[in-house]
Amino acid sequence: MDRLFLLFLSLSCVFASAVVSDVISNDDPLIRQVVSDAETEEDSGDHLLNAEHHFTLFKSKFGKTYATQEEHDYRLGVFKANLRRAKRHQLLDPTAIHGVTKFSDLTPSEFRRQFLGLKPLKLPADAQKAPILPTDNLPDDFDWRDRGAVTGIKDQGSCGSCWSFSTTGALEGAHYLATGELVSLSEQQLVDCDHECDPQEYGACDSGCNGGLMTSAFEYTLKAGGLEREEDYPYTGNDRGPCKFDKSKIVASVANFSVISVDEEQIAANLVKHGPLAVGINAVFMQTYVKGVSCPYICFRSLDHGVLLVGYGSAGYAPIRFKEKPYWIIKNSWGENWGEDGYYKICRGHNVCGVDSMVSSVAALNTKSQ
Ligand SMILES: *[C@@H]1O[C@H](CO)[C@@H](O)[C@H](O)[C@H]1NC(C)=O
Repeated sequence: MDRLFLLFLSLSCVFASAVVSDVISNDDPLIRQVVSDAETEEDSGDHLLNAEHHFTLFKSKFGKTYATQEEHDYRLGVFKANLRRAKRHQLLDPTAIHGVTKFSDLTPSEFRRQFLGLKPLKLPADAQKAPILPTDNLPDDFDWRDRGAVTGIKDQGSCGSCWSFSTTGALEGAHYLATGELVSLSEQQLVDCDHECDPQEYGACDSGCNGGLMTSAFEYTLKAGGLEREEDYPYTGNDRGPCKFDKSKIVASVANFSVISVDEEQIAANLVKHGPLAVGINAVFMQTYVKGVSCPYICFRSLDHGVLLVGYGSAGYAPIRFKEKPYWIIKNSWGENWGEDGYYKICRGHNVCGVDSMVSSVAALNTKSQ
């Protein structure tokens, strides 16, 4: 167990050097309007009408229905609170756009419980430490999506199984590097069958919709022999079924896996050399994220969400008066109707929201499928 890694999991903050109050020159009238509505909410009387109007748009855009009037009214209240939150996030994170998302009718704790699901880091017996790689000659911009190593955006639904999507994404990339074939792999196999536990901490196990960890899932996959294809063991979004793993249908196998040190250059070098990486992140700003490079002045580094790092860029678009930011490209598992077609950009350079703290890499066996 590496104490250094545990240390980075303790709560800590990046403190704001300044909070800038004039923001957003964005091109989405809905978002602009929502943010200015939230602003007027505190000092004008007709805010209720506007919030209700946006709630109507929100319901039709995301197909939301509520069983009772009581539930509807409660969700409207939550929606209004989230408009105010989006506005606060906008002030703290001016190079991204925050506003209405598909999660705008969920309280922060409902959101955490239903759509995240990363457990605290523990290191399985077979985890290696990634050797230090040379970092000169790294490209300025790099994206595994352009190189065929990334499957389409998936949707974990209302199940804390993020860790399984991060795991399959990393193995899909590694399998592609080993075999030249891009195959979508089964999260449901992990949700149903992987109950890998921390040898040192009783009760900390991968547990379906109640959370898990990518390194433990690599350990499971190593021991089980591999993962089936997505279509052979499709995703159901619940963990109530039995394990239906069929060894004869294994299509991708783990050769070994490693944890990468908290060092952005090493992370970039490992990404370029070994394929997409499984990372943990603090997702609090992701509930209201619409687009842009997220670079909050203040963000907890406690990790609660597992995602896939697929690339990086040197200069993301930023509104006038904010410097363009270098960023990481993160594949998420909340469907294409979240973020930038399912993706998130977060700035590089300062371990923002803990993005550098829990990074792991997997290598696949060269098991060419037919
Ligand atoms: C991990 O597996 C890959 C692919 O088989 C292999 O090239 C590499 O040497 C392995 N790394 C270690 C440290 O065993």
